[in-house]
Amino acid sequence: MNIDPTDFRRALGCFPTGIAVVTTADTDGTPAGITVSSFNSVSLEPPLILWSIDRTAACFAVFAEAGHFAVNVLSRAELPLVSRFAQPGGNKFAGLTLRRGIGGVPILPDFAACFQCSTEHRYDGGDHLILVGRVLALDDHDKDPLIYHRGLYHERGGEL
Ligand SMILES: Cc1cc2nc3c(=O)[nH]c(=O)nc-3n(C[C@H](O)[C@H](O)[C@H](O)COP(=O)(O)O)c2cc1C
Repeated sequence: MNIDPTDFRRALGCFPTGIAVVTTADTDGTPAGITVSSFNSVSLEPPLILWSIDRTAACFAVFAEAGHFAVNVLSRAELPLVSRFAQPGGNKFAGLTLRRGIGGVPILPDFAACFQCSTEHRYDGGDHLILVGRVLALDDHDKDPLIYHRGLYHERGGEL
């Protein structure tokens, strides 16, 4: 069966996700960041997570080589950061007060949760590279999540 890319994308949209900004720093300490929806849990023991990066992303090389990265899971309040970190070019971090975490990785000023990771595995994922991170530290601010579904952003509407 040939899978049409448009149909594939639309069907994948049936699966709502959160949104995260993954951050790292290059060897000079220059921050890099990218908006992702591909974040997911992998293992509790050891604590592993994954996300995948498009091989054509401008920041691909820095993430592919990084020894550490941080997954900043966005809350509803961080909606403006989604487009900021999804646009190539410019200084994505302008005006943000960053702190430096493990390995000098920049951490966003606020988030719902933040997972600081070392890069445990890199796997080929077709036009993406799958990065598996070992969680070394976490912060959980227990804020209302930002939800992504069919190309639109949502807030929590209530428990079923
Ligand atoms: C909601 C949303 C989810 C995204 N998820 C991913 C993702 O999981 N992996 C990825 O490589 N790009 C993803 N992107 C696209 C990148 O954020 C975008 O192409 C970004 O500009 C790439 O960074 P660059 O400036 O280094 O090219 C997503 C964008 C949006 C708006």
